[in-house]
Amino acid sequence: MSKSAPDTERELNDFYREADQRHLIPLWKVTARLLPAEPQTKVLPYLWKWPDLRRMANRAGDLVPIERGGERRVLGLINPGLGGKYAATHTLWAAVQIVKPGEIAPCHRHTAAAIRFIIEGDRSYTNVNGDKCMMSRGDLVLTPNWSWHDHGCESDQPMIWMDGLDLPLVGDLDAVFFEPYPTHAHPVAQINDSERKFSGPHLKPTWEKPEGRYPPLLNYKWEPTYQALKKIGEGAASPFDDVCFQYLNPHTGGPVLPTIGCYIQMIRPGIYTRAHRQVNSAVYHVFEGRGYSVINGTRFDWERGDFFVVPPWAWHEHANEGKEEAILFSIQDTPVMEVLGLYREQVYEENGGHQKVTGKFEG
Ligand SMILES: [Fe+2]
Ligand SMILES: [Fe+2]
Repeated sequence: MSKSAPDTERELNDFYREADQRHLIPLWKVTARLLPAEPQTKVLPYLWKWPDLRRMANRAGDLVPIERGGERRVLGLINPGLGGKYAATHTLWAAVQIVKPGEIAPCHRHTAAAIRFIIEGDRSYTNVNGDKCMMSRGDLVLTPNWSWHDHGCESDQPMIWMDGLDLPLVGDLDAVFFEPYPTHAHPVAQINDSERKFSGPHLKPTWEKPEGRYPPLLNYKWEPTYQALKKIGEGAASPFDDVCFQYLNPHTGGPVLPTIGCYIQMIRPGIYTRAHRQVNSAVYHVFEGRGYSVINGTRFDWERGDFFVVPPWAWHEHANEGKEEAILFSIQDTPVMEVLGLYREQVYEENGGHQKVTGKFEG
């Protein structure tokens, strides 16, 4: 005799209850959630305005000393979609940091790798494993995974820069290690050593041998970077990103860090790029100029100093309707996607390659 429907229903409910008690999940109940047709990210597109960031960084400078324990005077960008996770995207930390005249942020090292992109100030430095890298506006400075680093300001004005770290990713991998250096500052062995050796155009010293994945160049100076952007002139560039360069590790020809790709991009006056989307996430800093990006149909107006996030698999296009060039620096988790064989991108085909703008970001 076959069972009645209520009997089967009751047995199934008992089965699910037991599975739950025994810490088991029947996959058929959650297949759609675990295997969506495409990424269902919690990361939201978002924009942080520079006047607020700058004012609060300076306010922190007045209120909070840099000491061992707190380590750094840093304001992290928190993505509102990530439920309080300390992260700008699911994989990337981004922040503004301020060091005041005469200060030294104490030396330490951690397994999270970091980049700095200098927004304001000069005559400041990051000492990376004894190489004192002098920093000015527009420079990109690397502190690779587990390298000792302290930061000092020898100017009479504060320095403010963007920090970018893979900390959320390394945290999710439960691979965070941290160690303070025995003294406040690391001894200086050389000044601008990596830059002297490795910043020649298409040249690398023959006597320096690669040390694993450690990037040999730690300071990518602004002037040659800007010259590269300008050289394109009115020539053709990417229909999606206009003039966009990736910073490279001179030994490998690959990304500067295994987990973070760095890009510098110029949206020339009058350019309106076509939309595409990529599986990686990105944090942009507006280095110069103004313009807007349309991200998943919402228009984000940005100007010098602002930061914004493009989530994974989000349609995005950029526009510069002004007469001045707009320059964007960005960090992206692309190298992780590429090395794991997960990288994908897609071109927006409808409507001449442009999204319909359905709203404007108001903060
Ligand atoms: Fe650090
Ligand atoms: Fe893009």
